Amino acid sequence: MIGLGTMGAGIAEVFARGGLPVTAVEADAGALARGMGIIDGSLNRAVSRGRMSEQDRAEVAGRITPAGSLADLSGADLVIEVVPEQMPIKREIVTGLDQVLRPDAIIATNTSSLSVTTIAAHSAHPDRVIGMHFFNPAPVMKLVEVVTTVLTAPSVGAAVTDLARALGKTPVQVTDRAGFVANALLLPYLNHAIRLLETGYASREDIDLAVTAGIGLPMGPLTLLDLIGLDTSLAVLEVLQHEFGGSRYTPAPLLRRLTDAGRVGRKSGAGFYDYRQADPGQGPGSGQASNQDQPAAPGSVTVLAEPAAARADELAGLIEQAGITVTRDPGQPSDLVIVAVGPDGGVTGPATAAGRPNDAVGLHLVTPELAEIVAGPRTSEQAVSAARALADRLGLRSVRSPDRPGLLVGALLYPHLRDAVAMVGDGYAAPADVDAAMTLGCGYPRGPMTLLAEAGPDRAVAVLAAMHAAYGDPAFAPHPLLADYVAAAVSPLEYPGR
Ligand SMILES: NC(=O)c1ccc[n+]([C@@H]2O[C@H](COP(=O)([O-])OP(=O)(O)OC[C@H]3O[C@@H](n4cnc5c(N)ncnc54)[C@H](O)[C@@H]3O)[C@@H](O)[C@H]2O)c1
Repeated sequence: MIGLGTMGAGIAEVFARGGLPVTAVEADAGALARGMGIIDGSLNRAVSRGRMSEQDRAEVAGRITPAGSLADLSGADLVIEVVPEQMPIKREIVTGLDQVLRPDAIIATNTSSLSVTTIAAHSAHPDRVIGMHFFNPAPVMKLVEVVTTVLTAPSVGAAVTDLARALGKTPVQVTDRAGFVANALLLPYLNHAIRLLETGYASREDIDLAVTAGIGLPMGPLTLLDLIGLDTSLAVLEVLQHEFGGSRYTPAPLLRRLTDAGRVGRKSGAGFYDYRQADPGQGPGSGQASNQDQPAAPGSVTVLAEPAAARADELAGLIEQAGITVTRDPGQPSDLVIVAVGPDGGVTGPATAAGRPNDAVGLHLVTPELAEIVAGPRTSEQAVSAARALADRLGLRSVRSPDRPGLLVGALLYPHLRDAVAMVGDGYAAPADVDAAMTLGCGYPRGPMTLLAEAGPDRAVAVLAAMHAAYGDPAFAPHPLLADYVAAAVSPLEYPGR
């Protein structure tokens, strides 16, 4: 093991827990002591939480031997480098290893965004160099992306894949392409969320809530960006942009500005959210700060239906059950007009036809817990506030969205699913590998291909086509493979598998 920082210490623990003897090298004695301390701390925590016996702790710790230089690695079968993400440092390590290792020993790199091929090309034996990309925290996250290059010997790919499995991980074998699977899918989606924030499409709390409550992911994109670090996210996006081009990978200006300002997330005390304040209202997941200023729920509501939306009756029933007077007659006076809309919105037509464009708001029931409150171009702020209070009264959480294709949840979700489909369509990864990468590497409860199968490819085509027509951005154009799923009625989980 070379480098015992954030990732290296965790990876050393994984190997030692897997029963393999580990020799660890660091930049200097101080860093080595610090790295061994990280491992000890992690093993001690496992014991104090009852997840490991004292005897196992001692055995695992005993398998990790600190060493002073690369020369001490001469007997190793596999060396994994986990030094900082800078090519000159990686190059020095790889050329140094050529002097000490057996020619058949494997050199694995944990790089997230550098070219494994370029790292390999620095070795006198590039056929033995491979990517072994662990996720943070390494002892917990099950995914390992095994990255082969055009130079890697097939036997090396097979050996490292088997080893990852023996360590209790789930390997996904891919070729060397920027971002591999997980980062190449995660970063453009996070970038899009930033763009929705900076263009005023939605608030930061609503963007995060749309993803957690609307899609079921464990963390909203802006909270996740603060955790990853905005500087790290920007660096990975720049690599992706260089490789693939296009708007999905072009870093949002706000990401650059916040990074320039040193406001890079949790580690700096603030990013999209402020972590320095004692005021819990400033942290993520604290709900809408504006809730306190909201008016009471309206006493009477007119419920209209956007012609394609079938859930007006359900919505009217819910509102009545909450003790609010409901009328379905646009001629009757009421405090607020709610247009029951589907996932594509469409509040303006019925609101204008009823002669009440200012006090009409669209409402889309995304899940039994979440409503999208849809503001048309003439919807007043009072009407939006009243609709949010109404949603509260109905026991629904709510996010505000402009009346645009996909509203908020769909605008975040479908381009992300499209990226996943494009990766499958490119022949880069099979559907099961895409799902494994996002569930095991990023903590998704279900992978994007499963989410697509559930939502229906026809639905994805409809939203993406509408987004493409509205914004003219080719990144939103439905991928031809999506059309294949629909035309041939095949499941995205099965076609084209590998
Ligand atoms: N942090 C993550 O979430 C994450 C996830 C996956 C992959 N990675 C990748 O893992 C690698 C390491 O990242 P990290 O976050 O652990 O960085 P880090 O800065 O926490 O750790 C790097 C370690 O390498 C040591 N080091 C520096 N020069 C050295 C040398 N010449 N010889 C030996 N040790 C040396 C440093 O002292 C430090 O302890 C990078 O390639 C990164 O892209 C990071």
